[in-house]
Amino acid sequence: MQEQQKMIRLIDVSKNYGSVKALVDINLDVCNHDFVTIVGSSGCGKTTLLKLINGLLLPDKGEILLNGENIKGKDLVSLRRNIGYVIQDIGLFPHMNVKKNIAYVPYIKGYPKTEIEKIVLDAIDVVKLDKDLLNRFPVELSGGQKQRVGIARAIAAQTKILLMDEPFGAVDEITRRKLQDEILDMYHQIGLTIMFVTHDVQEAIKLGTKIVVMDQGKIIQYDRKENVIERPQNTFVKQLLGLSS
Ligand SMILES: Nc1ncnc2c1ncn2[C@@H]1O[C@H](COP(=O)(O)OP(=O)(O)OP(=O)(O)O)[C@@H](O)[C@H]1O
Ligand SMILES: [Mg+2]
Repeated sequence: MQEQQKMIRLIDVSKNYGSVKALVDINLDVCNHDFVTIVGSSGCGKTTLLKLINGLLLPDKGEILLNGENIKGKDLVSLRRNIGYVIQDIGLFPHMNVKKNIAYVPYIKGYPKTEIEKIVLDAIDVVKLDKDLLNRFPVELSGGQKQRVGIARAIAAQTKILLMDEPFGAVDEITRRKLQDEILDMYHQIGLTIMFVTHDVQEAIKLGTKIVVMDQGKIIQYDRKENVIERPQNTFVKQLLGLSS
C-alpha cells in the first residue's frame, strides 16, 4: 500500500510554561485527509498542541513539520495564513463586516476582486450562511452564525490544514449538531486535513477518522477511531470515552 502523505508531523516536541510541563515528548503524524479529534482532561495540553502547529507558540524542544517542511525559521505570519484556525470565541475582526472577515486572507494575498467575490460566495454556501448576513458586523450575529463565519473564513483562506479548538463549545445542542454535520460535509467535499479539539466525546467519535487521547501533556493513545474504541489502551481511555469494561 502506498504510504499516505504526512501533512503534520511532531517529533519529540515539548513545551513548558515556566515550571508547567504543558507537552512532554509528543510524537504525532497526521496524514493528508485525516480528521483527527483530540480529547483529554482540562489542562492536558490540547490548545498548546494546536498553537504549536500554527506557530502561535514555539516548542522548547523537538521539530514540527508541515507537509514535510520544518516550520523552524519560517515566516510565521505567512505560515498562519496557510493554516485555518477556528476557536470557540471565534476571533472575528469586530470592525469588519462579515464579507470582509471572510475575504480577509484572499484580500491580503492580493487576489482580484471578482475572484474574492466568488470565493466568499462559495464559502458561505458550504457553511449554509445566508447571503443577507454579509453586510452585518460580528456583534449583530448569533453564536452559531459567528461560528459559521469563522469556518467560512477558514475555507476562504483555501488552506489544506484546518485546526479547530472547541469550535462548537458555546452553541446550543441543535446548532451544534447542525454544525457537526456541516463540518463533515465540508470535510468530504474539500480535501482537508483537520485537527479538532473537543470536550464532547460523542462529538469526537462522530467526527473523527482518528482520535488522540491526551493526559497531562502526553498522548495516551492515537489510532483510527475504530481501534481506539475496540482496543482502548488503558482504564483512563476507557473512562474518558465512556466505554464499558
Ligand atoms: N500562557 C500560559 N502560562 C502558563 N501556563 C499556561 C499557559 N497556557 C496554558 N498553560 C498551562 O499549560 C497547561 C496546558 O494548557 P492548555 O491550554 O494547552 O490545555 P487544554 O488541554 O487546552 O485545556 P482546556 O481543555 O481547559 O482548554 C495547563 O496546565 C495550563 O494551565
Ligand atoms: Mg484548550
